[in-house]
Amino acid sequence: MKYFINSTADYHRNDLNSLGWELTVCNSMEPLNSPCHQALTIPDSFGKHLYNFLNKIISFDEISSVLEIGGGLGYLMRDFLTLNPQMKAKMIDISPYLLNKQKETLRPLKADFELADILTVPLKYLSGFDLAILNENLGDMPVLIPEQDNDSYQPFADATEKLEHFNKKYNLSLGLNKDECINIGAMEIVEKLCLAGIKYIYLSEHSCEATVPGNIKPYVSFQSSGIPEMISLKGHKEFTVKFSYLQKIAEVLNYITRRGYFADFLPINFTNKVQTALRLTSPLNDEQEVIRQFFHDIYKYEYLILTKGDEK
Ligand SMILES: C[S@@+](CC[C@H](N)C(=O)[O-])C[C@H]1O[C@@H](n2cnc3c(N)ncnc32)[C@H](O)[C@@H]1O
Repeated sequence: MKYFINSTADYHRNDLNSLGWELTVCNSMEPLNSPCHQALTIPDSFGKHLYNFLNKIISFDEISSVLEIGGGLGYLMRDFLTLNPQMKAKMIDISPYLLNKQKETLRPLKADFELADILTVPLKYLSGFDLAILNENLGDMPVLIPEQDNDSYQPFADATEKLEHFNKKYNLSLGLNKDECINIGAMEIVEKLCLAGIKYIYLSEHSCEATVPGNIKPYVSFQSSGIPEMISLKGHKEFTVKFSYLQKIAEVLNYITRRGYFADFLPINFTNKVQTALRLTSPLNDEQEVIRQFFHDIYKYEYLILTKGDEK
């Protein structure tokens, strides 16, 4: 099959000058007066909630160097370094605009910065880190698009070779479904981080396999097609991520995996106000709209925590 490629690299390098157009869950929880906090039992920032959750699963005492790829405005790492000042961070980002924002946010803390596309960073460079963090950014990585009628994508010559590699090594069946877009960049990154032997890896993104648990179905509904879905944003297109493939790659490479949705570590508070916002067919004000979007996101976003097998 002939494949085309969706790449966001040019957009991130040259055009991005705000993250306001694609508000991440992390950023939406940042303002102290964010309506998202009304939906939580503990109104902390995203980074604090995530750190406290990871702290129960991984042993932060063993972690001295942490790598964050695609750290956006730097809020998550600000929280990690504040809660654990013994750690030193490396921030790698493809966007000069966002890397500068990270420098401002992390100015008083222990962090280095590098402008780079993670897909081009050599594997050996990654092997010294104890923990790698990729929050809400795997959907930005290159995606293979099966044959198209329009000319909005560039043809991609090496697709067959790459798909054969993943199918053979990880027992996948990429390319069998002629309608399936493939998160090739996300798969290459997971493979690279695992081969680099990083002890702990945390990944998250909107998932094409997420399902809403039964008790939440009266409040939140969305369809997940099981194959990466396109999301059109300002200046670029992203895709939801097929986490089962990433999980399989990590498992073959001897990692123990734990998978779930953001609601696992963002403890929700069903106040009357929150329930009213969720039950309406359409929101009556901005606050209700934010709460509804937040609920949608905390079930649509999945995380994957990878722990190197021989460490436990
Ligand atoms: C949607 S933002 C997420 C930001 C942040 N992690 C958060 O949760 O708010 C995507 C981030 O990934 C970065 N990024 C996208 N493609 C990248 C690549 N190939 N290499 C490194 N960083 C990349 C972007 O510049 C941006 O910082």
